[in-house]
This record gives sequence, C-alpha cells and structure tokens, in this order.
Amino acid sequence: MEHAESLEGFCKKLPKIELHAHLNGSIRMSTIQELWDRKADRSGDLPFLEAQKTKDFQSAFSMFSVIYQLVQGLDVIDRITREVIEDFAKENVIYVELRTTLKAYDDKTKLDYLDVVLKAMRETAALHNIEVNLLVSINRAESLENAMEAVELAVQRKDQGVVGIDLCGNPVCGKFSELRPALEKARREGFKLTLHAAEIVNYGETQEILDFSPERLGHAVFMTDDLKSQLFSKKIPVEICITSNIKSQSCDGPLGHHFGEFYRKSHPIILCTDDMGVFCTSVSQEFSIVGDTFQLGREELYDLSLSSIDCSFASEASKETFRRRMRESRTSLGLENK
Ligand code: IMP
Ligand code: ZN
Repeated sequence: MEHAESLEGFCKKLPKIELHAHLNGSIRMSTIQELWDRKADRSGDLPFLEAQKTKDFQSAFSMFSVIYQLVQGLDVIDRITREVIEDFAKENVIYVELRTTLKAYDDKTKLDYLDVVLKAMRETAALHNIEVNLLVSINRAESLENAMEAVELAVQRKDQGVVGIDLCGNPVCGKFSELRPALEKARREGFKLTLHAAEIVNYGETQEILDFSPERLGHAVFMTDDLKSQLFSKKIPVEICITSNIKSQSCDGPLGHHFGEFYRKSHPIILCTDDMGVFCTSVSQEFSIVGDTFQLGREELYDLSLSSIDCSFASEASKETFRRRMRESRTSLGLENK
C-alpha cells in the first residue's frame, strides 16, 4: 500500500509511551553544551563530544561522568527534567516513566532532589498533555545502605508519582544479589520493579534476576537459549533500547538485534531510548528503525505502541486513557478505523 506520509513522519505522529529513560542521560545536547560554555575552568572542546565518538560499552558510561561534572545543583535538575518531558511531548509521547538516581548536592538532600524532579514533572506534564511517573533508580555500584535509603525516600513520595524502582548502573560494578534486600523491601512497599539485566555476559546473575521475577527487564541482550526460554515462559516484558545497544556495541546493528527474535515470539516488548541525549535518539526514531529493519507495517507499529501500554506501571484508569488516545489518532495516522 502506498502511503502519503514517510515512515519517519508516521512514527513521529504515532502516540507512543516511553518506559526506559534515564533523566541525566536524556539531557539535551544543547543544554550540555551551554553548561560547558558557562564553566569557568573549561579547556578545549566539550569532552562529551569526544566521548560520544568512542564506541564501546565502557566509554558509553564515561559520558555520564562528563554529564555529572556539568549537571550540579537542583536548578539544573529542574531545568533538565522540564526539557526532557517537553522533548518527549514534542514527538507525541503520551506517557513517560522517567527514572533517576537520587543525588545530594552541597546542602541539598536526596529528598530535595526527588521533590524538585517531582514538581518539575507535575508542572511540565500539565502543560504538555503528557502523563509522567517516576522510577527511583538504584545504581548497582551503591552500597546496600544507600539502596535501602533510596527505597525509603521513594516510599515517602509514593503518592506523588513514584511508581517503581529500577536497578541500573555499570554492569561490571556491584552485584544484584547484594542489593536484593533493598529490592525486596521495595516490593513489600508495593513498588513495581524493573531491573537492567544481561547488558553484558553474566548468565549467573541473569538467572538470579529471572528467578526474582521483576515486573520488567531492561535490555536482556546476552541470554543463553535456556535463559531466553525462561524469560519467554515467564512473559516478563523487556524494555528494548536498540540505538543504545548499537552505540555501546552490545550488538552489531539493528538487523542482528534481539528485537527480531522477541517480536517473532510475540514476547511483550517496549521500544525505548535509554538515554536520548547520550545516544542521540528519540522514541520515534526507535520505531522507524524497527519499521525499516524488520519490515513492520504501520498497523504493526501501531499495535507495538498500543501493546506497550499494558507493560507500564501507570494506573488502570491512565492505561485506558492512553488506549483511547491511540484509538482516536487512527484517522490522522491514515489507518482505517477498526
Ligand atoms: P540518572 O540516574 O538520572 O543520573 O541517569 C544516568 C544514570 O543512569 C547513569 O549514571 C547510569 O547509572 C544509568 N544508566 C544510563 N544508561 C544505562 C544503561 O544503559 N545501563 C545501565 N545503567 C544506565
Ligand atoms: Zn538503562
């Protein structure tokens, strides 16, 4: 069938949801550049740009240390939270689950950080017809004590948009098993859990994570056939971040990405950006990539977006609203009304 609109145009217009976006990794490049230009003791070019050229898994992580040198203070956190939500709204993302690790700056506490993010989320969401919830991230390099503290702070703001807990960070650091008590506490407190898993070969830990049965997994790249068959039978939804995996060299290119296999198995998957700023992508672009690479038609892309809603940690009422917004978009997307 001939379409008047390009695939890119369709993917941008398609209402979408984003379930795997790290706040500091989603920072606008122009904001990073501006913060760098403002820095008194800078020398030479922004190291971020240099780091972005180097392509391997660990150098992708080195970009976060550049970001953290520049993003200091709650005024900057407030700004980037607003900008990130605005950027999602501009490409027709109707629901976002943002995630971030709580930080203390100078005299400001981690709870202050959380409050600034939640306020910026609320205000920006209301302006842009987008719903936003927060996942508090635990960095796997942290101590169990810090992880417990993050869960306790999340509990204090549970009624203000914190819906879940994430386990993230450089997968060569720390261990899931050591942080597990904090995740168990989060579960007892009623939080949904999403854990980064199998970003590197670590089959033992991936088995432990599968046994723990979180509500969702991030990435799930390096899996044996046995681990995959457990994942498929448990039907744990996977947040798929194709550009992030390619740019950090976890896979060769889109065609070899495990999206293809998971999609053919009808396993629940959600297309996500991971870090829009660091990896220069957008949710629309992730949809275009799978449309192009795996020859998905427009109805299939629509269904992929629609089915992602089931995997979100939003309330049932919100999920119904997102589904309705998707149905209402069908005519303007050039799809027949079913
Ligand atoms: P923040 O939590 O808002 O500071 O977002 C950046 C942080 O997210 C990084 O320091 C990492 O810990 C985490 N992160 C971003 N991308 C990835 C990823 O691909 N794997 C694991 N952790 C990640
Ligand atoms: Zn991630």
